[in-house]
Amino acid sequence: MKVLLLGSGGRESALAWKISRSPLLEQLFIAPGNGGTGAYGTNVAISPLDFPAIEKFVKENAIDLIVVGNEDPLVAGIYDYFAPLGIPVVGPSKKGAALEGSKDFAKQFMVENNIPTARYRSFTADTVAEGDAFLESLRPPYVLKADGLAAGKGVLIIDDLDEAKKSLREMLGGMFGQSSATVVIEEFLKGIECSVFVLTDGNGQYRILPVAKDYKRIGEGDTGLNTGGMGAVSPVPFADEAFMKKVEERIIRPTIDGLKKSGIVYRGFIFLGLINVEGEPMVIEYNVRMGDPETEVVMLRIESDLLPLLMKTAKGDLGDAPLLISPDTAVTVMAVSQGYPGSYPKGKVITGTEEVTESILFHAGTKIAEDGTLVTSGGRVIAISSMAEDIPAALAKSYRSMDLLQFDGKNFRRDIGKDLM
Ligand code: AMP
Ligand code: GLY
Repeated sequence: MKVLLLGSGGRESALAWKISRSPLLEQLFIAPGNGGTGAYGTNVAISPLDFPAIEKFVKENAIDLIVVGNEDPLVAGIYDYFAPLGIPVVGPSKKGAALEGSKDFAKQFMVENNIPTARYRSFTADTVAEGDAFLESLRPPYVLKADGLAAGKGVLIIDDLDEAKKSLREMLGGMFGQSSATVVIEEFLKGIECSVFVLTDGNGQYRILPVAKDYKRIGEGDTGLNTGGMGAVSPVPFADEAFMKKVEERIIRPTIDGLKKSGIVYRGFIFLGLINVEGEPMVIEYNVRMGDPETEVVMLRIESDLLPLLMKTAKGDLGDAPLLISPDTAVTVMAVSQGYPGSYPKGKVITGTEEVTESILFHAGTKIAEDGTLVTSGGRVIAISSMAEDIPAALAKSYRSMDLLQFDGKNFRRDIGKDLM
């Protein structure tokens, strides 16, 4: 089988690593990939949003399957572009991708399907006075979300009412461009979050992948600015059998049934951002792809060949494709550039990668410079991922590997997984 994987982050490195281990794989291409993905396949300099260029490449190279890593091409309708051409794509149709592309749509979908989520209302510039009134009806802190994609930055959590009203106006006035022309205001939920991933074939069949927890803030003890994710752990001890039974009954099945009922074609990953509110799972958000850095731990724990699962998903019939999951613990710790998530330098030389033996290095913001050296090219640089019998043992491996890996300004969190131990 010939596979084209779209994306360039740590998530795509982990997907590429896993796909490359399949005995069914003939050739793997990653577009555009990064400084590490060349170890698992061939990087191709095509943007995941350039559908005509992808089409040309797919035809010339007789690609059997397109796997979409990041949300942008999905929200832009890559599934719908390739469906008439008969080329299987792992990912939802454009309508399905609106579960991530529009928070207002996602909230409506949850309400229609009785899926537990925070109480909410949506507002535009024309209804700002009603927005104020709704804020007044809520208790602080106030949660304001840009309706559209905002690269993970579109959510504000504000303690003060007047501040929240001011931010509502700023958001509607273009703080996140067109993405915040509609703002979702919702009730604040208190609890601990986890990420649940489901692979579904759009015909009612699905598999629940390993559950993970990610660490979003830059600072230890969950302080400071939000990042793309500083580390992840799987499994998540509080997501036990009883919790997951509720997740499946109250959230996963109603989601799959709801998509079908609405006639939405969805053959791909569903990412449920959940919060555990005193033992009761509620949905914070839907994403229509895998998480990053959650994928870096989820892929380590999947023992089965991923390729048949992906191909069967894209063809709309998961059938009996097996999904075996390791009981061991996987962790990943992200090495990031100095200054991230603010501005940061690029082009710093990375050394020590060959010395790492206990962990897998899933490259994210790296590239091979013209002179052949490996250099940084992004905020999140490398996800150092390890497996062991429990969280402390897995973390010990990742932190030992972290010490071997060097680049100027390297930063990382030393407390990944501590809250779960
Ligand atoms: P989202 O982009 O919707 O995942 O929101 C980003 C982050 O904001 C989430 O991961 C949560 O930590 C937080 N958040 C979003 N919505 C709520 C809510 N209703 N209550 C509490 N925290 C929230
Ligand atoms: N780790 C969260 C995300 O991928 O959105």
